[in-house]
Amino acid sequence: MASEIPSGAVTPANERLSRPLDSIDIPHKAIKKICCIGAGYVGGPTCAVIAYRSPNVIVTIVDLNQARIDAWNSDNLPIYEPGLEEVVKAVRGKNLFFTTDVDTSIKEADLIFVSVNTPTKKSGVGKGYAADLGWVESATRHIAKVATSDKIVVEKSTVPCRTAQSMRKILDANGKPGARFDILSNPEFLAEGTAIRDLLAPDRVLIGSLDTPDGRAAAASLADVYANWVPRKQVITMNLWSSELSKLAANALLAQRISSINALSAICEATGADVDEVSYAVGLDSRIGPKFLKASVGFGGSCFQKDILNLVYLSESLHLPDVAEYWRQVVEMNESQKRRFTQRVISNLFNTLTGKRLAVLGFAFKKDTGDTRESAAITLIKYFRQEQAKIALYDPKVEEAQIWYDLAEPGVPDDLAAVKKQVTICPSAYAAAEGADAVIICTEWDEFRDTQLDYEKIYATMNKPAFIFDGRLILNQKKLEAIGFKVETIGRSRIADSYE
Ligand code: NAI
Repeated sequence: MASEIPSGAVTPANERLSRPLDSIDIPHKAIKKICCIGAGYVGGPTCAVIAYRSPNVIVTIVDLNQARIDAWNSDNLPIYEPGLEEVVKAVRGKNLFFTTDVDTSIKEADLIFVSVNTPTKKSGVGKGYAADLGWVESATRHIAKVATSDKIVVEKSTVPCRTAQSMRKILDANGKPGARFDILSNPEFLAEGTAIRDLLAPDRVLIGSLDTPDGRAAAASLADVYANWVPRKQVITMNLWSSELSKLAANALLAQRISSINALSAICEATGADVDEVSYAVGLDSRIGPKFLKASVGFGGSCFQKDILNLVYLSESLHLPDVAEYWRQVVEMNESQKRRFTQRVISNLFNTLTGKRLAVLGFAFKKDTGDTRESAAITLIKYFRQEQAKIALYDPKVEEAQIWYDLAEPGVPDDLAAVKKQVTICPSAYAAAEGADAVIICTEWDEFRDTQLDYEKIYATMNKPAFIFDGRLILNQKKLEAIGFKVETIGRSRIADSYE
């Protein structure tokens, strides 16, 4: 049973505006058992790190998907993240467990993370914009149905502002007598590809709670868990709604920077300015800073687009059409960047891709992850297929089955056969480039850099003229031009060194 302990801290009620959690002691429970609902890209790594850094806490990660849980219990983890395997292997079977026995884990836990998927709605009201909260609701109902003692329920999923209110109503209406629920918001800021590093040394941990004695005590309990490895001053408490909105705001601002530099990359290509130089110059301004200013074929991943669309929907629901339009444009610029890049490939390849072989390097949405959700490569390959090109694809981490799944139109039964006539999955970058008219860098995997791949060897096997389209700004253009390649780079034009 969780005991009352006097240590720990939470920001006092009258000073709660995003202040560090280091000043006041209030009585609160010690967390001994944690259940995490959802063994995905967030639940898995986050709770594995909690177990790794909190030897006195027993962490059980549950999921309805048996195959996913089996993979977590095997040598072949269901997701790839640098450092994840070491963390999981160090604590699995000691204080970290993976199971589909959701009921037992909920019953035994003091604190439950809800870390389930919240994708964009595909139909109904808010289709294409609003978050589908079906999984959050069903996990919440599950907690209400089986919990027989007090629980702290933590929103880990990214949710629209005021979702905690809906969870509260569901829990209050369905909970068993004697079981009391406190709801916290604790959004996750990890980035895929650097998840373990981000979790071990986060910039900040955000905990939102109601500003009531119970809410503050629940926040203090969760803060104590993080304090096992995160300095107290980096554990920030605030009101629930600020915390929920902060996650959407963070992703919107990050994506907006990428769309801004991509918009500038179009101007660079048309004028002879170099986007890397522009980005370097503006990033030296301490008010701007250098991060997230790398031009590319566009952002991907499961979160940026979904979270901005969610913000657009929220703004529209609040009758703020100008605000909605502002954020919508960030997503539109991202789409436009992919169309512009495709057009550049077409016009350089003499205005036709019909029957040409394009070596697409990279399918993951960014390096060091096997995740393909909203990957720019998916859209680009769709456009290349419409132009009747043949695509030879290589990615170091993404499974074949995932690639076929992503490329086939959902619900179109014979689409996969059509895809397979145009797309080949290759075992290496060299195999993909053999006989190709162009190499197209879609993901910035380190192994595609000219310091790692032998581009002379690649050049020798390609059709001539041999083109390289660098969609990630990772190649040394001059070096490749010296080999003989025609190099086209995002945000850079061939007129750079002339007055023509
Ligand atoms: P995911 O799709 O990889 O994992 C969600 C898991 O929840 C799935 O395995 C699913 O089977 C399971 N699940 C759904 N309903 C369940 C239920 N009732 N009981 C048990 N298991 C259930 O999703 P991911 O990427 O982990 O994202 C989860 C949340 O975290 C989303 O809201 C996302 O926006 C947010 N997020 C994601 C980040 C990322 O980089 N992927 C970063 C920060 C936040």
